[in-house]
Amino acid sequence: MKNPSLKNKRVLLGVSGGIAAYKSVELVRRLKDSGASVSVVMTEAARRFVTPLTFEAVSRSKVHSSLFDEPLVHIALPSEADLLIVAPATANTIGKFSNGIADDLLSACFLSCAGKTLIAPAMNWRMYENPAVRENLARLASRGVLQVGPEPGSLACGEEGPGRMAEVQEIIEAARAALADKDLRGERVVVTAGPTREYLDPVRFLSNRSSGKMGYALARAARDRGAGVTLISGPTALPRPSGMDFVAVEDSAGMLEAVQREVSQGATVLIMAAAVADYAPAERSAGKREKSRDLSLELKAAPDIISTVAKASRRPFIIGFAAETGGNTGRAAEKMKKKGMDMIVFNDVTEPGAGFDTDTNKVVILDGNRETHVGLMPKYDTAHAILDRLFEMKT
Ligand code: CTP
Repeated sequence: MKNPSLKNKRVLLGVSGGIAAYKSVELVRRLKDSGASVSVVMTEAARRFVTPLTFEAVSRSKVHSSLFDEPLVHIALPSEADLLIVAPATANTIGKFSNGIADDLLSACFLSCAGKTLIAPAMNWRMYENPAVRENLARLASRGVLQVGPEPGSLACGEEGPGRMAEVQEIIEAARAALADKDLRGERVVVTAGPTREYLDPVRFLSNRSSGKMGYALARAARDRGAGVTLISGPTALPRPSGMDFVAVEDSAGMLEAVQREVSQGATVLIMAAAVADYAPAERSAGKREKSRDLSLELKAAPDIISTVAKASRRPFIIGFAAETGGNTGRAAEKMKKKGMDMIVFNDVTEPGAGFDTDTNKVVILDGNRETHVGLMPKYDTAHAILDRLFEMKT
């Protein structure tokens, strides 16, 4: 499986002096939980926020801070690492990196690092918006340095704005993405996710239990493998993923329109993970429906997005989903043929840990040639298993 993993990877973590340094303690724990080994380099300023002992306890290895502790430590540490993560990366550290200054161990490690570097900036929003910082970040990006965050939100100084260090989970995902094989580079993947809302009137709608988690995981996994991604999402409670185009829609008609636009603009793969309504109210009242009205509701068939796209002359590779109750894959195989899909992901929603609103899934991938059984795992990993099969079929 091409699923990018941190297992057995060697991470060098640089911690510079911001209050977000305390979150990096958790980052070390999570990196270790993922199977990575972690060495930590702290700047002098970072040591004022968190003691080296804390990082030593969680990383189970000696923390380095000085260029002069051991000979050539600034060369040895990066050369042994698969990935250098700098979290938090303060404005000062970013400035040094951008300008090639190497006056402490961390900045010297950055300069001597030939591998991948991921920075997680954290600072007050005024500093983050300062043109000097912006230019430094842009220069680092143009040299291939990867960045995760910062996020908007409340800052340690009591103000609101962009400058919060990315959440630990985001940094872990960015680290996995940094090490991922970019086998989907050149593909333009459109993913639909979440439920649709079919309105009866301005305040009421028919919808379903889809959380959008599987679709969002697919979009993130495709992005991490180098694809250009557009995520078309019905209403969900999930944070908007970075590094992709995002289109918010509400009803099946809106979703169809957004999908068709992407297809006409050259999408190469369509992944329909959305739980699109099969039926919609026959009419949408402009005003609120009266209580006194007839209690039965007249429905019409919602537009079938997959069938519509499958009939187009320049059609993408189409992956659909089948949410079934029961283990028989026969119905899903028929659905794949009937709707003109190239692959269908069968999902028994009655299985524990699979289906609606869970963080895990257990699926069977059907594609005319083969049935691939994918055991219970986090949805991000299920997503990679689906993309692995897509990659095999497209090459
Ligand atoms: N789909 C679609 N347009 C719709 C409804 C569904 O493109 N109006 C897509 C879904 O995104 C999904 C697949 O079709 O990829 C599911 O097919 P569907 O026939 O709706 O199956 P289920 O909803 O699983 O169940 P049922 O067979 O009971 O309809």
